[in-house]
Amino acid sequence: MFTIVRPEQKSSSPFLPYDLFAAINDLKRSLNAVILAHYYQDPEIQDIADYIGDSLGLSQQAAGTKADVIVFAGVHFMAETAKILNPDKLVLLPDLEAGCSLADSCPPEEFAKFKAAHPDHLVVSYINCSAEIKAMSDIICTSSNAVKIVSQIPRDQPIIFAPDRNLGRYVMEQTGRELVLWQGSCIVHETFSEKKIAQLLIEHPEAEFIAHPECEPSVLRHANYIGSTTALLSYSQKSSSQAFIVATEPGIIHQMRKEAPSKHFIPAPGNNSCACNECPHMRLNTLEKLYLAMKNQTPSLTLPEDIRVAALRPISRMLEMSG
Ligand code: 13P
Ligand code: SF4
Repeated sequence: MFTIVRPEQKSSSPFLPYDLFAAINDLKRSLNAVILAHYYQDPEIQDIADYIGDSLGLSQQAAGTKADVIVFAGVHFMAETAKILNPDKLVLLPDLEAGCSLADSCPPEEFAKFKAAHPDHLVVSYINCSAEIKAMSDIICTSSNAVKIVSQIPRDQPIIFAPDRNLGRYVMEQTGRELVLWQGSCIVHETFSEKKIAQLLIEHPEAEFIAHPECEPSVLRHANYIGSTTALLSYSQKSSSQAFIVATEPGIIHQMRKEAPSKHFIPAPGNNSCACNECPHMRLNTLEKLYLAMKNQTPSLTLPEDIRVAALRPISRMLEMSG
C-alpha cells in the first residue's frame, strides 16, 4: 500500500515507507518514460512532470523525445498527437475518457461536407481536434502559432479555419484576413462572464486582465494581453504588474504562483457559482490514475495507420512552419 505524499509534505519519516511520487519516479526510470503535462492538469501532476507546457511545446517535446514511453497528462487529442508523431512508442493517457468539448464540436462526417462545400480552400485546423479532422487538414496550428502560420499563407489563398470560432476570429483580427470559420467552441473558455470580469476590473484597478484567445470576443475586448497558456505565463512573469485577472483554465495559476510567488493571481469567474472554468476533461486525470497507467502500461493510444499517416502530414507542416 502507498501513502500519498504531496511534494510539500515530503519527509524522511520512517512511517512512510513508500510514496506515490517515488513510485512514479521508479516507474519512469524502469520504463524509460517521460511525463508530459499540460498546464490545466492538477498541481500535483504538474509537479511530477518532466515537461509542462502548452499544446505546441508538448507536441515539440513529443516529436523530439528519446523516451520509450510517453505518459501524456492532458486530453485525448494531445496524447493522440504524440502517438501520430511516435507510432512505435507506447503513449499512455491516465484516463482515456479525457476528451475535449472543442474537438467534439467538429464531427468528421459534417466537417467533410463543410470542406467539400469550399473546394478551393486550404484547411488550417487548431490542434484541438480529432485525428480524423487532422487527416482532412493541410496545416495544424495551436493558439501560440495560429497567427504566425496563417500569416505565412499567400493572401489570395482562401482558408477554412476549424474548429474554434473564437481563435479563428482572433486570427482574423490579427492578420486582417477573412477566414471561413467552423463554429466550434470550448465549454471552459466560453463560460467566463464579461459582467463579473468588468466588476473585478473595477475592484482591482491595479490588476492586468490576461486572456486565452479561446474566450468569447466580449471577454477578449477587455484584455490587456491575449495569448496561449505559455504566453500568458511568460507575460505574467515579465510584466511589472503585481496582480492579474486570468481568463483561462485555472490550472495555469499553479505555475504562475510558483514562478512569481509575490504576485497576486485572480481566476476569472464563470457565469455560475460552479467551478465551470475548470476543464472537466483535463481534470479526469489524477496522480493515482497516472501511477496505475504506468504500472499497468494501459490505457494506451492506438489509431488506424491510414489516419495516422494522413494526420502526420499537417502536424509536420506546423512543426516546420513554427521553427
Ligand atoms: P494552449 O495551452 O496551447 O494555449 O491550449 C489551451 C487549451 O485549451 C488546451 O486544451
Ligand atoms: Fe478542450 Fe476547452 Fe478543455 Fe482545452 S479547456 S481541453 S479546449 S474543453
